Amino acid sequence: MEDVIVVEGLTKRFGNFVAVNNIDFTVKEREIFGFLGPNGAGKSTTIKILITLLHPTSGSAKICGYDVVKEPYNVRKKIGVVFQDRSSDRVLTGRQNLDLHGRMYTMSKEEREKKIKEVLRLLELEGVENIRLNSLPEGVRRRFEVARGFMTNPKVVFLDEPTIGFDIKARRDLWSQIKDAKEKEGSAVLLTTHYIEEADYLCDRVAIIDHAKIVAIDTPENLKKSVGTMLISFQIGDKNGNGLSYFIDRVKRLDWVIGVLKDNNPIILKIEKGEGRVLDLIEFADKIGFEIISIDEREPNLEDAFLYYTGRTIREAEGG
Ligand SMILES: Nc1ncnc2c1ncn2[C@@H]1O[C@H](COP(=O)(O)OP(=O)(O)OP(=O)(O)O)[C@@H](O)[C@H]1O
Ligand SMILES: [Mg+2]
Repeated sequence: MEDVIVVEGLTKRFGNFVAVNNIDFTVKEREIFGFLGPNGAGKSTTIKILITLLHPTSGSAKICGYDVVKEPYNVRKKIGVVFQDRSSDRVLTGRQNLDLHGRMYTMSKEEREKKIKEVLRLLELEGVENIRLNSLPEGVRRRFEVARGFMTNPKVVFLDEPTIGFDIKARRDLWSQIKDAKEKEGSAVLLTTHYIEEADYLCDRVAIIDHAKIVAIDTPENLKKSVGTMLISFQIGDKNGNGLSYFIDRVKRLDWVIGVLKDNNPIILKIEKGEGRVLDLIEFADKIGFEIISIDEREPNLEDAFLYYTGRTIREAEGG
């Protein structure tokens, strides 16, 4: 399949600060590609370069073969954009916003009518299209923005943090609407998120981005697999004040422990599959003066993959 986004050595500096550091990636036709990273990782900056709103400091990016610096007008014809900051005119109705957008893209009246009908259906907005946006809930307004992103038959739709501030139900609804819309429209989607579940559920491939760099790119499945086969995660209490580093040092030497993924509460160990690990660990901890407060044996999830590649959890990375 054709690559609709090709990014090579892309870098953006603001003064001495490097916001995007030499990143490379490609996105295939009809793929949903996710940028997973904490606040300030450089996600929006990358999107702004790809949608031709910012010039890169160095490196190159092409959308459907068009260079974002040299051929911005051709790029814009190929894309739909949903900004991180809300960007609809709230005095207008949803339908008026969509129509205005179609006019800006010089779509004919018939084309606009047809397309509006289609995107209203895909985003489940039928029935509220003639209400002013400022009288609608935030989540519905957001869906109108996503609908607008698909208005102009784009080859690539950029969604910058599409579900930020949504509750779980609204988030899940939008996920399936995005999937349907991209299937129906045949677009590729590049979305940014700091929600692990969003990247996991929605994306064919995920780039983990941290401190302006892409540290891994793969399918969610492969990212999880790269962590290991089995993990054991537990909260531990230090009964005798020996210190967690003492515990870590001892537990590392158990023959079924492959490595330490996280060395503070909750501690996460990479382990060999086998029977009775949980009980073994509880006994071992007790013997050396520690108590296990809660414990869980599981296969790696995408959160673990984030930790594996960045050395911290996404919550820690966001300072929370
Ligand atoms: N115009 C600018 N001038 C100076 N610094 C900037 C500018 N735009 C972004 N930055 C900085 O670049 C870094 C990356 O910002 P960016 O908005 O790309 O992050 P992000 O991954 O989208 O994070 P968020 O989750 O906050 O949206 C941040 O430290 C930000 O403060
Ligand atoms: Mg951002």
